[in-house]
Amino acid sequence: MKYILSPSLLSADFARLERDIKICEENDTKYLHIDVMDGHFVPNISIGVPVVKSIRQCTDLVLDVHLMISRPEKYIKAFAEAGSDIINIHYEAEGDKKAILKEIRAMGKIPAVTVKPNTSYKEVLDLCEYADMFLVMSVEPGFGGQSFIEKTLGNVEGLAEYRAKNGLNYDIEIDGGINADNVTKPLDAGANVIVAGSAIFGAKDAAREIQKFNAVMKRYEVDQ
Ligand code: DX5
Ligand code: ZN
Repeated sequence: MKYILSPSLLSADFARLERDIKICEENDTKYLHIDVMDGHFVPNISIGVPVVKSIRQCTDLVLDVHLMISRPEKYIKAFAEAGSDIINIHYEAEGDKKAILKEIRAMGKIPAVTVKPNTSYKEVLDLCEYADMFLVMSVEPGFGGQSFIEKTLGNVEGLAEYRAKNGLNYDIEIDGGINADNVTKPLDAGANVIVAGSAIFGAKDAAREIQKFNAVMKRYEVDQ
């Protein structure tokens, strides 16, 4: 299995996004996690379509776009055309999830389903043929810098068990409150895509933090 770090730009310096993206590129990062918030599905407002478009102009990294918005079906086309690679929609958002995931795939993008901490993985299992990744939220979506919620590891374990039992190969991503010290918990539970925002961009030396994550994740890749 591939182990991938997806640094969340939510904690980057928005006036120096290119500089922070270069730090990721120079330290072997493959993904960039982009948090889109509409002030309705979550209380906060963050990045929108024009910013994704500008980020696309300055990097070839995989853009892992996390839509924390109430009506994802209204914006799939715009985010796809802006250059997103992975489009994560929330299970708790409005609309026909199967239809939205099919639309994402039809646009040549990678469809993913996200669950909030209080949603059970069991509720999304019937979407597994429409999604290439499940994103388990390990904090309430909306803000960076919150503490990791331990019980969400149950969702990672459940998705990993179901994947193994049924010979499936979707990725399991985890997002919220993760740093280079506690990252072994979701990795042990079966996650293989790790989002980290404040642990990287909130640190004095973001490159050093990315390298710490890389060292731990490399161990998992070697051990499997
Ligand atoms: C929260 C976002 C996260 C956030 C994670 O709603 O989905 O991606 O940036 O930030 P940290 O790693 O600081 O918890
Ligand atoms: Zn996110």
